[in-house]
Amino acid sequence: MFISFEGPEGAGKSTQVRLLAAALRARGHDVLCVREPGGTPLGEQIRALLLETPGVRFSARAEVLLFCAARAQLVADVLQPTLADGRIVLADRYADSTRVYQGCARGLDSQALAAVVSFATGGLAPDLTFLLDLPADVGLARKRRDGGEWNRLDQESLAYHRAVRRGFLALAAQEPGRWRVLDAERPTEALAAEVLAVVLERLAEPVAGG
Ligand code: TYD
Repeated sequence: MFISFEGPEGAGKSTQVRLLAAALRARGHDVLCVREPGGTPLGEQIRALLLETPGVRFSARAEVLLFCAARAQLVADVLQPTLADGRIVLADRYADSTRVYQGCARGLDSQALAAVVSFATGGLAPDLTFLLDLPADVGLARKRRDGGEWNRLDQESLAYHRAVRRGFLALAAQEPGRWRVLDAERPTEALAAEVLAVVLERLAEPVAGG
């Protein structure tokens, strides 16, 4: 099963991925966690280029292609083999981040973007996606307070981050069967319990077509 976590900055995705992985492993499941961009040697180099190279200007299209190149490598080297082995993959961001950060928030054409994203992933989509939703200003303030890594995209305007939040909510509304929208302002443990309950319910469902 392939599960992704999406959301604006400071929503607590990484913490929830860590807690869910621990809870599933304690129940005997074989779990792999990945983060995007990254997760392969090539992907980590692209991550550094995209997020940590001061003074380099990226056109919106170049930015998309770099995120997608990192993802194509992750799909081929890590996600496809791991899922084929029947393991659970937890992804801290995946293709929906590109559709939102580069699409909705940068204004790139959504159909062209969908074609590039699908080329990169070979059509691999998550079975379940959690949107950890919270207002953009609350998330940014959290990130600042927690002293997290402050990358090139965090420095975008508040209007950009608000568009990111709206973009995620719009995607979730279009595909309600895949998405679970959760209020990320709730306490970490309460949120983790809800995430785990949803996942355990899904794992208990009979496999489609099986
Ligand atoms: P990261 O430090 O992992 O931030 P976060 O903890 O919020 O996930 O940095 C990832 C940044 O890259 C984040 O600002 C979102 C952005 N991003 C895109 O713009 N497009 C993408 O396709 C992906 C995967 C991430």
